[in-house]
Amino acid sequence: MANVKFYAGESFPLEMHKVRIIQKLNLIPVEERGKAISAAGNNTFLLKNRDVFMDMLTDSGVNAMSDRQLASMMYADDSYAGSETFTRLEASVKHFFGCKHFLPAHQGRACENILSQTFVKPKPGSVVPMNYHFTTAKALITVNGGTVEELIIDEGLKIRSDNPFKGNIDIDRLNAVIKQHGAANVAYVRMEAGTNLVGGQPFSLENLEQVSRICRASKIPLVLDASLLADNLYFNKKREAQCKYMTLHQIVLKFADLSDVIYFSARKLGFGRGGGICTNNDEIFLKLRELVPLYEGFLTYGGMSVREMEAIAVGLEETLDEDMISQGPIFIDYMVKELDKRGIPVITPPGGLGCHIDAGQFLEHIPQGEYPAGALGSSFFIASGVRGMERGTLSEQREPDGAEHFSNMELLRLALPRRVFTLSQVNYAIDRLVWLYENRRLVEGLKFVEEPKILRFFFGRLEPVSNWQTKLIEKFRKDFGDSL
Ligand code: F0G
Repeated sequence: MANVKFYAGESFPLEMHKVRIIQKLNLIPVEERGKAISAAGNNTFLLKNRDVFMDMLTDSGVNAMSDRQLASMMYADDSYAGSETFTRLEASVKHFFGCKHFLPAHQGRACENILSQTFVKPKPGSVVPMNYHFTTAKALITVNGGTVEELIIDEGLKIRSDNPFKGNIDIDRLNAVIKQHGAANVAYVRMEAGTNLVGGQPFSLENLEQVSRICRASKIPLVLDASLLADNLYFNKKREAQCKYMTLHQIVLKFADLSDVIYFSARKLGFGRGGGICTNNDEIFLKLRELVPLYEGFLTYGGMSVREMEAIAVGLEETLDEDMISQGPIFIDYMVKELDKRGIPVITPPGGLGCHIDAGQFLEHIPQGEYPAGALGSSFFIASGVRGMERGTLSEQREPDGAEHFSNMELLRLALPRRVFTLSQVNYAIDRLVWLYENRRLVEGLKFVEEPKILRFFFGRLEPVSNWQTKLIEKFRKDFGDSL
């Protein structure tokens, strides 16, 4: 955010853009919200957008675009091979990361698929140490016979903390894991910017420098997941002494220099829809390149539409402008602090991506086996028409023997897609959360009625363990009268 001080002393987030296109929203009555969430099997992924007021499911592919991005889409050059659009995107990505090679892919997990297939070896099975897993990254490593070692610092898993870099990897544990398995069995080390599942928490440049040194000494490739790089960068600049006088671009170039491969979901980075992989390593490039036409499309589109490619090219340029990337973090900061003031358990310090509610504490009376974060997502939709995303045990996969794998944290993530919501809408979400918190004892757990084997959170269906939702709706009517 630009340096604007307020006369009255109080500070609030100030957008450095104006809204020029709007989409009408729909807020349906609480009884209808109850029916909608039941029809969706209490899974917010299965709701229909027409029933949703604020879509805080994710920041993926739903960020608002700039006027320059929309304009760029109009001059996209459509061609299977060799389009001008690809030439522009390639130049933009290479400039942004300062890298030699770029491979397009249709989204982040497509990059993860290509990387896992290339590097992960089954039996005895490669190991992939990382600061923390992301659902698709882990699923694609395990499906290829590898295992994931999560080595985030202890502080990263604490809900409340004032550590500015909770996404850092524990360097001692990284050294120990490499020693234990032998460098030859480590497929790569994965560092995730803006560590998603611990609350959008950044790592420091210093931490990446240490990881890079270890990887280079052991000849292990270092893979940077840059999907949430914009938020990470903002925090490096704000919170890390050595970054204070660096430009955002200098920080990105430093990150790139320390890594061997970078991949990203452009549904997050670049405010578009797509993805890609970058490297300076010729050998790695040639190996990865083989899989792009097989899974994605020809090397000059990789499954993306040319319009999105144009938008990403501009979006990356704009990511180097602090005014363009600050809206997410400053709104999240506001929401986290307002909830915290009202005693609602949230992850601190505020991170990127969204506001993360600690469902474990919010609904401490619900056992982990009855999915407290899922129950919070379902009950919050009833209370508000806002849909969040369960990021707890439901989002985990079962152990090979079928046992439930309890997640480290039970979170309800309320994403703040970049530049999409106004402060009054955020205040509405806060108000309804406060009501729900005061009525939390009415909320009970969920149980599966349909449980897919892989990535079950996407389309699994659940039902409440009792008729608690009816009681919650009755209480809402009692407290709010005829309000929506
Ligand atoms: N890496 C990270 C850190 C992500 O957050 C995501 C997606 C991916 C990789 C995969 O990218 O969706 O383009 O295939 N995160 C979304 C989310 C889905 O809602 O957090 P993708």
